[in-house]
Amino acid sequence: MPKKLLKFFLPALICSIIFIYSYKSESYADEISEKNIHINTLTDFGKVLVVYYSLSGNTKNIANKIKERTNADIYEIKTVNKYPPLPFLYITAKSQMNPKNYPKLQDKLPDFSQYDMVFIGSPVWWYTIASPVLSFLSQADFQGKSVVPFATHGGKYGSFFEDFAKKAKNANVIDGKDFKKVNKEKEDSLNDKITNWLKNLSSEL
Ligand SMILES: Cc1cc2nc3c(=O)[nH]c(=O)nc-3n(C[C@H](O)[C@H](O)[C@H](O)COP(=O)(O)O)c2cc1C
Repeated sequence: MPKKLLKFFLPALICSIIFIYSYKSESYADEISEKNIHINTLTDFGKVLVVYYSLSGNTKNIANKIKERTNADIYEIKTVNKYPPLPFLYITAKSQMNPKNYPKLQDKLPDFSQYDMVFIGSPVWWYTIASPVLSFLSQADFQGKSVVPFATHGGKYGSFFEDFAKKAKNANVIDGKDFKKVNKEKEDSLNDKITNWLKNLSSEL
């Protein structure tokens, strides 16, 4: 190998190795701290199911973080029909607030009997629960189950939690949590918020 090439190639190779190594050890550190959270909260809630609907990813993000911290199973609510783009989406969503127009769901409901606690997440649509979750709730019976609602929204969650308590049939509804502008929140503060919420929740049970 010519001397000039070696002069360039060797430092570049060393820098790359250092970068890859430090990147890997950082992810490993994250993994460890996530595992600690997971171990701390795992025993407190029993067997957990996280149910969510998400159109643009915000509620999904929170649902996954709850799942990681509680060692939960996860169930995504999916509609048969796709939603139109904005601004038509607002009109469709509004029309689906009427129980006669609740959207049809793709899958049958999960078997709640094997779970001690069920978290249910929804975006706020028109100051209340999004219609796919309304549709889900209309079919569900939570007899004997503790249910924790959570919502993501742009700033106004309206009557989301009151409506949820009315619609979750036979559930022991536990105070839920709302997450404002999830997509603008820094990852670290979002992680802390969810961890602290779950810790408080488990200490209150
Ligand atoms: C049809 C529709 C209606 C909405 N209505 C409200 C609302 O009433 N209040 C609010 O704060 N945000 C509202 N939003 C914003 C969403 O609640 C917010 O972006 C949410 O985090 C989206 O969740 P997702 O990414 O899981 O779909 C609305 C969004 C849509 C699409």
